Order: sequence, then structure tokens, then C-alpha cells
Amino acid sequence: MSTTAREAHLTIDPAFRVAPVRRRTFGTFVEHLGRCVYTGIHEPGHPSADEDGFRRDVLDLTRELGVSTVRYPGGNFVSGYRWEDGVGPRDRRPRRLDLAWHSTETNEIGVDEFVAWCRKAGVEPMMAVNLGTRGIAEAVDLLEYCNHPSGTALSDQRVANGAKEPHDIRMWCLGNEMDGFWQTGHKTAREYGRLANETARAMRMVDPNLELVACGSSGSSMPTFGAWEAEVLEHTYDVVDFVSCHAYYEEKDGDLGSFLACSTDMEYFIRSVVATADHVGAKLKSRKRIDISFDEWNIWYLSRHQAAEPPRDWPVAPPLLEDRYHLADAVAFGGLLITLLRNSDRVTAASLAQLVNVIAPIMTEPGGRAWRQTTFHPFAQASRYASGEVLRVEPVSPSYETAEYGEVPMLHAVATRAEDGGVTVFAVNRSTDGPLSLEIDARALGGVRVTGATTLTDVDVYARNTADDPDRVAPRANPDVEHDPLRVLLPPVSWNVIHLG
Ligand code: AHR
Repeated sequence: MSTTAREAHLTIDPAFRVAPVRRRTFGTFVEHLGRCVYTGIHEPGHPSADEDGFRRDVLDLTRELGVSTVRYPGGNFVSGYRWEDGVGPRDRRPRRLDLAWHSTETNEIGVDEFVAWCRKAGVEPMMAVNLGTRGIAEAVDLLEYCNHPSGTALSDQRVANGAKEPHDIRMWCLGNEMDGFWQTGHKTAREYGRLANETARAMRMVDPNLELVACGSSGSSMPTFGAWEAEVLEHTYDVVDFVSCHAYYEEKDGDLGSFLACSTDMEYFIRSVVATADHVGAKLKSRKRIDISFDEWNIWYLSRHQAAEPPRDWPVAPPLLEDRYHLADAVAFGGLLITLLRNSDRVTAASLAQLVNVIAPIMTEPGGRAWRQTTFHPFAQASRYASGEVLRVEPVSPSYETAEYGEVPMLHAVATRAEDGGVTVFAVNRSTDGPLSLEIDARALGGVRVTGATTLTDVDVYARNTADDPDRVAPRANPDVEHDPLRVLLPPVSWNVIHLG
């Protein structure tokens, strides 16, 4: 163990329980955008394609990633989407302009194919309805088509289209980012709140057991942030279960220190939305609690996308938003995952945006290979090893000064305790200039040892995985472990998983 490493410390005590680990924390998102659907999950001519044209290599990676739910079909796309275009015989499905991404939508894939893909992937589908260009009637029609057993025009249409059993979709988003000026059919909080309320009430008449998500803010820096949630929830409090949060982060102007601490903003975002929701609940004298669905989060080099020209000539499935992630991105990403877990008492669902090709952990070549981006690994490890209960760990570490967030601790961490008593610590070292020697006080667990430790790091913080070098950045066994006291060396700019048992 290095003698020059800075000291850090955390405490594991089963009494420091936050909440159960929510499987839905490990949701992702498939939008009709770029190559996410076409040549992402679906590519009939691909060597690995199954009988329905789904890429088996992507299905395998989706399972390995440990995805729980998948949100569909947008995103900005949903605000101009007509779901009817995507059902029934394929040769009669219309091609349409997709205004959100300046592309042509062929409608080769629609809700029935998406649900069939979800069954194969072993994930729960989560639908969004169009409250941009459409309204209550179309949302209720889609719900009836999907979830009503049979005996009505729409449910019999689904049966005729090959889906005898109802799709039984539980979680529904009432529109997408309706606070954003870029959204087709963008609305004020009052306009949206009223529409969301009426849509939710009608949807609950069809199926009272749905779980409904009202749109919150598209980011904590939106000018209407806070006021938006308050007004929308005043209209919808009794009829929704969740309010959404969306957040994307990128390294700006070479400021790596701030970037690695971007979970500070996510933490602020979550606390503010919880406070706002609870304030509305108190005003309404309601005992009901609204949870957060953090249904878009990721690293996204949005400024590069904004600087680029939109596609010309309305292409079909053009390469869009194909960010290639490096080690530092994966470490910042791991910090966001830790924050989601730390807030599992109120963040009870989340969707990494997105799954394949579009700001995604999985990349594909059309007709060719599929590989894991650096961000694949923290997600897959957290999904695999976080189970049972989330524990606070009271981290203590040196801090550093950032331009965006002021003083931030170098160590960011959380732990989970499985039913068999095994504890897993997830920890990020944000320091760019040295390792942290992490001492773990696990006396409350009685005589445990480190049974395994991995680290995701690289001598080059900008190292990436490519189709030719797909495992350049991957978790490796961490040899720097001591048992008395428990101590693990966390390299600079690293994501770490430590098992105690
Ligand atoms: O995930 C990419 C886009 O980001 C989504 O379509 C939109 O909801 C958000 O602005």
C-alpha cells in the first residue's frame, strides 16, 4: 500500500439503513432517435439477428448490463409521435417526418415489437404518451390498445396484430420535458399541469393501478426549475405517483475537477424536488408521497450536439449523439449512480438515457460488432451487486476546490447490504492527482474481510473502448487490499467496487 496516499474513511453499520435497493434504479431508455432502434436493437439483416430481426448481440449485452425497465419511445420524439403508425402490417405503416431529430421515421418498430423485445431482454416496458401534439384521447387509446384484455375495437386490434395477451404496462410518463422550449407542443406549467391531470384521470378510469409520472424539469438550471414542479404538482398531486427529473453532464472547458463532481448537482436537484413535492403535499393536506423517477440521466456532450448542423434531407436512422465515453466519463457516471442509490428513499425509478448507440453504454456497427463503452461497467456492476438495502456510509475524505461546486470531497460512496449479509461498497475517487487510502470501519458487521475488490481506472483518463480495443477500460482486480484494519487503495480518477463478507 502506498505510503503517500491521502487518507479517507467510511463506516458500515447495518443500522444506517436508507431504503431498499430499488430494481427500477437500473432502468434505461430506447428512443426512436438516431441508431438506437434501427441498427441498435433491431437490424434484420445482421448476422446475429433473431427471427424478429432483433440483434442477439445487443440482447445479450442488455442482459449483462442488468437493465430493469426501458422507457419508450421518447424523449423528444414522443411529442410528435402517432402510436397507430407503428402497429399492424408493416407494409402499410406510414413513413413520417420526425421533427424532434430531423429524421424520417419508418415505423418498422412500434409498441408491439418493442414489448416483444422487452420480453426477450427480460425487462419491464415503461411507456410515454404524447402530450405535445396530442392529448387525452390518444393517450387513453394507446392504453386501451396495450392493456385491455380484449372485446373492444382497440384491444381486438392488438390481438389481431399478434399480441393475444395484454402488454400489461404499469409505468406511464405523461409526456416528455414539457417545460423545454425545444419540445414540440411545449407548454406552461399551468397548461401542462391541467392536461396531465385530465389525462391521468382518464387513464386511471381504464386502469386504476397504473403508475404515472408527471414531467418535472429538464434540468436544475431551467429558468422555471422549482416553480414548474410546484405548479404541475398542485394540478396533479392526487393522480400521479412520480415527478420526473432529467439531467445530463459534460466536461466543460477542460475543467475535469468540476466534471468529476457533477453528482453534486444531481444531489441538489433531488433534494430540491423532494422538498418541493413535500411542500405541495403539505399545502394540499395530503399524506400521499410523490417519488422521483429520474428517467433521463447520463453524461452527454450536449454542447457538441448543439454546435452541429441538424441532419439534412431527413435521413432514416442517421448516426446522432454517438458520444464515445472515456474513463473520466465513466467515473463521473459512477458518481451519479452512487447519488441515485444514496437517495433510494425518494428516487424509486431511474432511466439511463439511452441504451444503444445514442449516448449509450452499448455501441454497434451496422452489420458488424457490438461493444461495451466505459460507462457500461459501473452500471453493470451496480445493477449486479447492489441488492437488499442501501446503507449510508458517512464518508470522510480530503476535499478539493471546484469552479462549479466549490469545495467537494474526493471520496463519494455508498454501500448496500444483501439479504445474506454480504456488503458491497461502491466508491469513486474524484482526485486527479493521487490515490486515496480508504479505511473501512466495519466493526458493526463483526469480523468481516474484503472478499473482492475491483477498480475501473487507466493511466490515461481519456482512454476509451473501441470496436478494435473493446476492453481497454474495464474493471480489474484491485491488488491493494489490507485486512487489519480493512483498507483499500483507490487510484486517482477511479470507480471501485469492494465486497465485504
Ligand atoms: O436523450 C436525448 C434527449 O434528451 C431526449 O430525447 C430528451 O427528452 C432530452 O432532452
